[in-house]
Amino acid sequence: MELSDLSQFHRISGACLDCGRQHAITARSLACACGGNLELTQPLAASPDRLRHGVQTSPQSGMWQFEDFLPLRAGWGSHLQVGGTPLLDLGPHQGPRLWLKDETRNPSGSLKDRASELVLAVAAAFEIDEVIMASTGNAAASLAAVGAAQKTRVTVIVPRDIPVAKLAQIQAFGAEVHRIEGPYAAACTVAGNLARARGALNRTTGLNPFTREGKKTCALEIAAQLDWQPPDWVVVPTGDGNILSAMAKGFSDLKACGLIPHLPRLLAVQTAAACPIAQAFDPRLQGGAQTTCADSIHVPAPMDERAAVRALRHSNGRAVVVDDAEISKAVMAMASRFGIFLEPSSAAGYAGFEKLQQQGGFATDERVVLLGTGTGLKDLRVAIAAAEAQTAPCLHPEDWHTLVAPPTWQEH
Ligand SMILES: Cc1ncc(COP(=O)(O)O)c(C=O)c1O
Ligand SMILES: [Zn+2]
Repeated sequence: MELSDLSQFHRISGACLDCGRQHAITARSLACACGGNLELTQPLAASPDRLRHGVQTSPQSGMWQFEDFLPLRAGWGSHLQVGGTPLLDLGPHQGPRLWLKDETRNPSGSLKDRASELVLAVAAAFEIDEVIMASTGNAAASLAAVGAAQKTRVTVIVPRDIPVAKLAQIQAFGAEVHRIEGPYAAACTVAGNLARARGALNRTTGLNPFTREGKKTCALEIAAQLDWQPPDWVVVPTGDGNILSAMAKGFSDLKACGLIPHLPRLLAVQTAAACPIAQAFDPRLQGGAQTTCADSIHVPAPMDERAAVRALRHSNGRAVVVDDAEISKAVMAMASRFGIFLEPSSAAGYAGFEKLQQQGGFATDERVVLLGTGTGLKDLRVAIAAAEAQTAPCLHPEDWHTLVAPPTWQEH
C-alpha cells in the first residue's frame, strides 16, 4: 500500500511551508522539491463535544488517546506507553503559576518518543523495514527504543561528541549507530543520502512531517489536563524548532475544532551558542558563545526554522537566549527546588522563563507550562561538575557527632 492511499482514506493533505505547493503524502518522498518542509492537515469533522468525549473515553493509552487527531489508528503503535505524561503543578512562582509537563517519563526519557512512535507506526503500516535519521542524541535513542519494540531496523547518524549515556542507550536498544565528523547538519545530509540509497524511511526531525504530528500530542494532553483551558504560555527549549512548531500545530488543531478558546503564547528558549530561530524572530537578541553544555539544542542550521518562526509570530510569542551559566544554574535549581532532574537542554527552558520573568515578561495571574523535554540522567556533566565543587572530605565513622548540627539548607 502506498501512503497516498492512506492520505485518501484519512483525507490527509500536505502543503509545503516554503512555496505552498500541495503534495500527496507518500512514505518516502516527504519534503517538497523546493526543499521546504511539509505540514499535514486533516479535517476534523466531529463536533467539539464528540471529540472531547472521544478523548475522555478512549480505550487507548498515552498519546493514542488522541488518535482522532492523528493520521493513523492506534493499532499501528508499539506496546510501549508513549505520552500520557503528568502535568505537575509547581505552584506560584513569584507571580505566575507554573506547571511542568514531565516528558522525562516517556520510555526513552524524552519528548522525542512521541515522534518516533508515530513515524514507526507509519513504517509498520506500510511494511517499511528500516528507519534512518540524524539526531543530536535524544531522537536517536528514542527511535532506537521504539524501533526495538516495533521490530523495525533503525540506523542513526549522530555527532562525534554525543553524550556517552545516549550512545550506550542507542546501542542497548540494538540500533546501528554511526558517529560522524562535523556538525549536526552534516549528519542530516548523511542520513538523507543513506535513506535514499537503502530505500529506508527518513525520520529526521522536521523533514519528516509525521514528527510534528507525533509531538503535537504533547499540546493536546496539556489542554486536556487543564480541562481545555489552555495556559497563557508554553515554554519550549528550541534547537531544530520542531517541538515549537508541533506545540503550535497541536493548539491550532484544538482551536480550529472549537475545543479551546485561545492559543497559548509560545516562548522559545535557545542557547547563546546557536540561536538562529530566536534571532530570526527578534533580531535584537544576541548569541555569540562558541560552545554550550546544552548539546541537544545546539543547532546552528535548524531543520524546522520556518515553521518555528511562524509559530512564534502566530502565537504572539517571545524568544529568549540563555548562556551556559544560566543553563547550569537552572539544572541545579529545577532539581533542588522541585525534585525534577532535567538535562541542560531541557533546563534551558526554566532559565529562559526566569530571564523573561526578571524582565517583567509575565503578569502575576498568568499560567505558564514548562516542557521537561529530557531527563538529566542521560547527560550528567553539569551536575557532576557542581557536585564535585560541593563534595566534602570522607567522614570517619567516629566523627558522626560533627553532623548533629545540620548545615544551613541551601537551594540552588
Ligand atoms: C531534551 C531536548 N530538549 C529540546 C530539544 C529541542 O527540540 P527541537 O530540536 O525540535 O527544537 C531537543 C532536541 O533534540 C532535546 O533533545
Ligand atoms: Zn515547496
